[in-house]
Amino acid sequence: MADINFDRILEDIKPTETEKKRVMELSDELIKNLNETASRKGAEAEAVLVGSVAKSTWLAGKADIDIFMEFSLDTDESYLKRCGLKLGHNCIETMGGTAEERYASHPYVTGTIEGYEVDFVPCYFIEDASQLKSAVDRTILHTQYIKKHLDKKQEDEVLLLKRFMECVGTYGSEFKVGGFSGYLCELMVLEYGTFMGVLGAASSSWRYGQIVDLENHGTAELFKDPLVAVDPVDKNRNVAAALNLQKMSDFIVASENFLKNPSERYFYPKDLEFHSESVKKEFLKRGTKTFILTFRPPDIPADAVYPQIRKTEKSIVKVAESHGFTVTGSDSWTDEDDEAMILVEFETWKLPTMRKHSGPQIWFKEHQERFLEKYSGKAWVEGDRWVVEVPRTYESVEAFFEGVLTPNKIGYLRFGKHVKTEILKEHQLLDINELLESQCDGEVLRFLYLYLNKNELLWR
Ligand code: CTP
Ligand code: MG
Repeated sequence: MADINFDRILEDIKPTETEKKRVMELSDELIKNLNETASRKGAEAEAVLVGSVAKSTWLAGKADIDIFMEFSLDTDESYLKRCGLKLGHNCIETMGGTAEERYASHPYVTGTIEGYEVDFVPCYFIEDASQLKSAVDRTILHTQYIKKHLDKKQEDEVLLLKRFMECVGTYGSEFKVGGFSGYLCELMVLEYGTFMGVLGAASSSWRYGQIVDLENHGTAELFKDPLVAVDPVDKNRNVAAALNLQKMSDFIVASENFLKNPSERYFYPKDLEFHSESVKKEFLKRGTKTFILTFRPPDIPADAVYPQIRKTEKSIVKVAESHGFTVTGSDSWTDEDDEAMILVEFETWKLPTMRKHSGPQIWFKEHQERFLEKYSGKAWVEGDRWVVEVPRTYESVEAFFEGVLTPNKIGYLRFGKHVKTEILKEHQLLDINELLESQCDGEVLRFLYLYLNKNELLWR
């Protein structure tokens, strides 16, 4: 391990003194602005800095400033939202930024101010988790907990862990990623001491259902997730609830890879080499047939879009298989604005005209009667069971898609409801070659490349 120079990496990923000063000054200014406006308007709200900026755990150049506006517990909820949003908008406006309203468990305002992304979130002031009114209320408690327990040296360990996670593709608790949140990384460092401690534990001893319970709340059995990190400030919450099995496994494998063959390259984005010709060739070489269903992503929050698209993808695969096609893999992608894609790769994409359909056993006279009524002279017996040859509904994958993506057949698929509306409005089914011959931008190519090279980001 001697050959890894963590200090050198930290030089690249740790905010410089200048950046720190700028971010802290801007944060102070925003908070002052909010508190002054609030008191001028007679609103009883107090702005506080939370998130990685408050905890000194943000990666250089990646400061998103999270500001929460605390209202007292007896504040009416609709007033809190209205007033919180107004204060946020007002602050962005006077600071010359641009605003956009978003929704998490409740609405908040995001602004770009002097090049920084700033989130303004109204919440309740609580002293412990028993007073929780909305999911975001915990955030202030998280910030206090980390500030109290994470020491200076460990801030660097968190930076190394976040950066490693980013580079291997497991950082981020949003649905797009389904990985580790910043707070979860911080808790991992508290539990295992250092960056290397976390990787060591993950690679050697983590099991499905792994428990991390820093405050010994003893409530881990409440959760059925692959990783259970009992929230130190709220025994009823698993901080790792958003982490899916895939990303947990990816992180474990990346940790093993790193420990076997440590390299500073794990802390820098990997140069992926691909262009549409090479991707096309790779698909061709596989001898499978890959289809791409394209449609417009529905205009709903990003965190709602991804699960809906994923659900649609899984359902298409399941229904295609129930019709006799074999699927070897699938994936989906969206730019969240104009384009969404579901990729399905088939091992079998053409099937015979006929299909053998099995009926009841001959011992059950009533069922036999009904079966024979329906299929009259065409049925025969194999062993003790009736069988019959019937025409197949879909002989090709194209016919399957065409048939199933119509208003009266679409009921067979389980969709996110907004995605369903969009697909019925307009969609296109492309062979992978057609897609690659058309204008295919870098992000789409990257998606296709990573589909073909699934472990690419996990090693260096
Ligand atoms: N939070 C949470 N669970 C999530 C996401 C966020 O509890 N899945 C809370 C955490 O307390 C977190 C705060 O919201 O610290 C701010 O969220 P975010 O900006 O996503 O995380 P940071 O800790 O600020 O990390 P970074 O911005 O560096 O990714
Ligand atoms: Mg943040």
